[in-house]
Amino acid sequence: MDLFRIIVFLIPPYSANAAPVVLGGGTPIDLGKTLWDGRRILGDGKTIRGLLAGLTVGFLVGFLEGYLLGDPLYIQLGVLSSCGAMFGDIFGSFIKRRLNIERGKPSLVMDQLLFIVFAILFSYPLLDEHMQDILAVESIVFILVFTYFMHRLMNIVANKLGLKKVPW
Ligand code: CTP
Ligand code: MG
Repeated sequence: MDLFRIIVFLIPPYSANAAPVVLGGGTPIDLGKTLWDGRRILGDGKTIRGLLAGLTVGFLVGFLEGYLLGDPLYIQLGVLSSCGAMFGDIFGSFIKRRLNIERGKPSLVMDQLLFIVFAILFSYPLLDEHMQDILAVESIVFILVFTYFMHRLMNIVANKLGLKKVPW
C-alpha cells in the first residue's frame, strides 16, 4: 500500500466534494421538482453552481498534481475521480430523499462514503491499468476509514468557520 499515491489520488475528489460548501448556492440541480413520492428529486442542497464549482476545482487540483508530479495520469485520474465524487454526492442526496431523510440531515454512508466510492468506481479503468495497489482490499478499507474521519473533521472545521450550519 503506497500511502503517497493514495493521498494524491484522494486530493482531487476531496477538493471537488468540499468546493460546493464554499462556492455553491443558487438554482438547485433538480430545479425544485419533486418525484412521484412527493419528495424533492435532490433537494436544495445540490445546486448547479456547486456542481460546476466542484468539477472545476477537482479538475484544477488534478491538473496541478499532474504538473507537479510530471505525470499526466494524475490529470486523467483527477477528472474521473472528481466526476465520480460529484455523481456520488448527488446520487447520495437522491437516495436520502427517497428514504425521507431531509436535506442536511446526516446519513453516514450517503454523506461520508458514497462520494469516494464513486470516485473509485469512475477511476476504476485507470486504476486497474496503472495503480493496481489502490484497488487492493487493504487500500480500499484504508480509504473508506480515512475518508470517514477526514469528512467528519472537515465538516466540524467548516461548521466552526461558519461555512456550514451543521457539523456534518
Ligand atoms: N452544495 C451545493 N451544490 C452541490 C453540493 C453541495 O451548493 N452540488 C452546497 C450546499 O449549500 C449544501 C452544502 O454545499 O448545503 C453542503 O453539501 P452537502 O452536505 O452535500 O448537502 P446537504 O445540504 O447536507 O444536503 P443533502 O441532505 O442532500 O446531502
Ligand atoms: Mg450534508
